[in-house]
Amino acid sequence: MFRDDLLAGHKILVTGGGTGLGRSMSEQFMRLGAEVVIWGRRGSVLDEAAAEMREATGGACTTMAVDIRNAGAIDEAMEAIFTQQPLTGLVNNAAGNFISRTEDLSANAFNAIASIVAHGTFNTTVAAGKRWIEGGHKGSILSIVTTWIWTGGPFTVPSAMSKAGIAAMTQSLAVEWGPKGIRANAIAPGPFPTKGAWDRLMPEPAMAKLGGGSSLGAGSIPLRRMGEHRELANLAAFLMSDGCDYLTGAVIPIDGGQYLSSGGNFHALTNLDDGDWGMIRATIQASNAADRAKRTT
Ligand code: HXC
Repeated sequence: MFRDDLLAGHKILVTGGGTGLGRSMSEQFMRLGAEVVIWGRRGSVLDEAAAEMREATGGACTTMAVDIRNAGAIDEAMEAIFTQQPLTGLVNNAAGNFISRTEDLSANAFNAIASIVAHGTFNTTVAAGKRWIEGGHKGSILSIVTTWIWTGGPFTVPSAMSKAGIAAMTQSLAVEWGPKGIRANAIAPGPFPTKGAWDRLMPEPAMAKLGGGSSLGAGSIPLRRMGEHRELANLAAFLMSDGCDYLTGAVIPIDGGQYLSSGGNFHALTNLDDGDWGMIRATIQASNAADRAKRTT
């Protein structure tokens, strides 16, 4: 679809670049000639992903274990990157999410999501942006949001609020930083299955009760299938390329038409009862605990 050297000369940071969609985008950027830096919380996961992506693409990738909930760590890591050579692009991909009835969420549960998605994305963006501005460099920001920035996100309120904030940030910075040569765009994906998201958004008890035929499944999508990672990676590569230097302030859905037909959110979960929610919470918390254990080993 693209020339092999589409992103030659680019240096792109992808947060959450060691797994899921972040990894798929990173690999595509490397294949197209960009030098990629990936951030994530687990150094061993990043190193393994980088080695596999180098092997697959012959491209360049460096890793930095950075938790974007920590503003100080972000600034320190960004300084180290820019001291070597300024970034040309930033992809705000790292996220956290789980389904829950909103009345069951504690302040801590809200923070668990918002500290990554809203605060982490803001702090990473400013850490890159202020260095672009200081150095007089051009830059391109791409943020991954979701279609529920337009529809609302029942049962995912902290994520919906945070992602809607990122969409507002995208449009705001396109104007504020446009005169400084910085572009800001966002992609709003529909369902692109990844382990991180599916463990927490489609846990077994919900799928067992509602099944794939509900608004959770491919049947709710006009194109009748889930997204493939390469399709999102292609859109991301296009947006990061020099060929669309005039494109800024856009939030582009890539969801097979889902949000126009069924809202693309979790409204089907209104059919669950107390027992279902108990099982769902236990399943999600077991996934969270397993991931925390991996991070500490
Ligand atoms: C209610 C819950 C809960 C649940 C956790 N909590 N799970 N409350 N229902 N199911 C509460 C806990 O009780 C606790 O509050 C607080 O939330 C923190 O819980 P932890 O289990 O300690 O969570 P923690 O491990 O800190 O972080 C959770 C996480 C993490 C942020 C979700 O697992 C993570 O970083 N995940 C990354 C991967 C991921 O989530 N990917 C999905 C991205 S999908 P109390 O008050 O008890 O202390 C996405 C959009 C996709 O972003 C769109 C697709 C269409």
